[in-house]
Amino acid sequence: MQAALQGGGITAVEKQKQSGKLTARERIVAILDPRSFHEYDLFVEQAGKDFNMDKKFLPGDGVVTGTGTIGGHPVCIYAQDFTVAGGSLGYAHAKKITKIMDHAMSLGVPIIGINDSGGARIQEGVNALAGYGEIFFRNTAASGVIPQISVILGPCAGGAVYSPALTDFVFVVDKISKMFITGPEVIKTVLGEEITQEELGGARTHAEITGNAHFFANSEEECFHQIKTLLSFIPWNNRKKADAFSPKQPLKEYKIANIVPTDPTSPYDVRDVIRSIADGSEFLESQELFARNVITGFGRVDGKTVGFVANQPLVLAGVLDVDSSDKAARFVRFCDAFNIPLVTLVDLPGYLPGIDQEHAGVIRHGAKLLYAYSEATVPKLTVILRKAYGGGYIAMCSHHLRADFVFAWPSAEIAVMGSEGAANIIFRSEIKNAENPEEMRKQKVEEYKQKFANPYVAAAYGYVDAVIEPKETRHFLSHALSISDGKTEKSPERKHGIPPF
Ligand code: HXC
Repeated sequence: MQAALQGGGITAVEKQKQSGKLTARERIVAILDPRSFHEYDLFVEQAGKDFNMDKKFLPGDGVVTGTGTIGGHPVCIYAQDFTVAGGSLGYAHAKKITKIMDHAMSLGVPIIGINDSGGARIQEGVNALAGYGEIFFRNTAASGVIPQISVILGPCAGGAVYSPALTDFVFVVDKISKMFITGPEVIKTVLGEEITQEELGGARTHAEITGNAHFFANSEEECFHQIKTLLSFIPWNNRKKADAFSPKQPLKEYKIANIVPTDPTSPYDVRDVIRSIADGSEFLESQELFARNVITGFGRVDGKTVGFVANQPLVLAGVLDVDSSDKAARFVRFCDAFNIPLVTLVDLPGYLPGIDQEHAGVIRHGAKLLYAYSEATVPKLTVILRKAYGGGYIAMCSHHLRADFVFAWPSAEIAVMGSEGAANIIFRSEIKNAENPEEMRKQKVEEYKQKFANPYVAAAYGYVDAVIEPKETRHFLSHALSISDGKTEKSPERKHGIPPF
């Protein structure tokens, strides 16, 4: 037992420490409540027969599995042990993971997977691939049933990457996490290129560029704290609601009436609006560094978790584009699957125009957000802060996609497009033929603005339920959330929809 608990041996453990990493068991213990970890299958033996593998002692076959608690609630957990054959995944290693995943499903508790592995154990051939297939199948079966959390604390190479990609939240740590399909050795052999693991897919790359990671930390300790915070906001399975906390007022420093500038082109940080609404001004942002033109994350109103989705006027004026549509759509689907009401804050000029976006598939990706909001049956509350133009107005949880309540501030502008663009198109000939075209243009822009750049036309049709002062926002949301608590909605029977992914 002592030998097994030592992992890959003193030298390998030293190497692990030198690279700034904790061992598999240390990681599990740091995430779970003190003394709550119970390990299983420590004596499982590796199953490989070729390349002298049957003569090797691979303790626990390179993965530690077990159960414990976080905040007193049970969780299932596994951590790959890089000190044992590079944490590579063989048949027995995969069996241990799938067994603990099956437990998580039958117990209805979150599964946390810590990845630190060279990928499929090359010596085991198809049995290693089979192991990945079994994990992917379970990741898919568990999707929307129990929360699935992936923590990348070392290489996550080859087939290993697709399990995190199928889970709900991926955590990475600077300089430690590396995710790539093919490693530097393979790239050198196949393409003759020298490239480092960091260049291929370091933590920052996945947090900022690819969007594979949801939470970025500077240390393993910070990462474990983030995991625990996330778990405090979400329910343990899809039949439950998140734990309720004691309600707290937002901090006084966030004065909601002073955040949004009246000039519709002036930027501001929409997270300040969220903090001026959320209990204690606490906001846990998901995918903070990716597609920053849309903000997604969790907060509480009156002690109950809500998922916030908001345009961020600080970045690209808060437009929807390929990446932000993907980001928001996935978040909306998570909240819907796990009974978390959605609060959407709207201030955007629409979808991002241009050939790059068109060719990158803004139609296909943008449609995901329409689908996600339309399909969601949790309480959906929308607040239009300022601009709500064109497709952006519809996509950001309008009444037409079945928002339960849409509120608008007096500063809201709900129109097909901005007044300048609109006037240039519909009054083109009048402007062109005018004695003073520039003067006429200004006049027509003003005319359009007067007509549509306000919330009252939409309110007259019932597309906006109430025009409210900014300072009334938390009160209106709190009331709407409490009366929507028992909301039930029946969708027509079908096997499943076909979202545009
Ligand atoms: C078997 C492996 C292994 C693997 C690493 N090791 N990866 N053993 N199968 N996939 C072993 C090494 O031989 C070494 O053993 C020990 O783990 C530590 O590895 P090092 O290379 O010394 O560590 P390091 O320098 O930190 O490099 C880590 C690494 C590198 C970047 C992960 O090992 C690497 O490139 N591995 C291959 C990655 C890869 O291409 N995997 C794809 C597999 S195919 P010793 O005995 O020397 O200590 C795949 C397809 C599945 O996954 C598709 C499903 C959809």
